[in-house]
Amino acid sequence: MNDRRNFLKSTAAAASIMALNSVPRAFAENLPMYTNIIHTKSNPGIWAQKAHLHVPEVTVLQDKINVVTKHPMSDGHFIVRHTLVLEDGTYIGSATFSLADKPESSYELPDKYKGKVYATGFCNLHDFWLTETMI
Ligand SMILES: [Fe+2]
Repeated sequence: MNDRRNFLKSTAAAASIMALNSVPRAFAENLPMYTNIIHTKSNPGIWAQKAHLHVPEVTVLQDKINVVTKHPMSDGHFIVRHTLVLEDGTYIGSATFSLADKPESSYELPDKYKGKVYATGFCNLHDFWLTETMI
């Protein structure tokens, strides 16, 4: 009886692992190991009430990407930086902001790029935010 229970438990566990691995998942979206390290719209962690001001908003215009964070820039609380990286880790660019700047940046994609891009933003008080976009 115990052998049968153990067999059923291991089969269910294996099926769960296979199901998780067969579904394409967004980076950091469903990985508890990144909770409160990388904040996203769907996994804002401790900053759930702050997400609307921190999630990098990405707009794609042909081979150009605009990244905007709708965050006020005030002394002591501001967006420090944006960075854009391709799915394979290729660094596209970054922008570092001062208080006089709006947290907006633009980047050019490689010609006819298709794939994921990762836009990040960092708030000096509310940590590191990521938006994943499929081009
Ligand atoms: Fe903030």
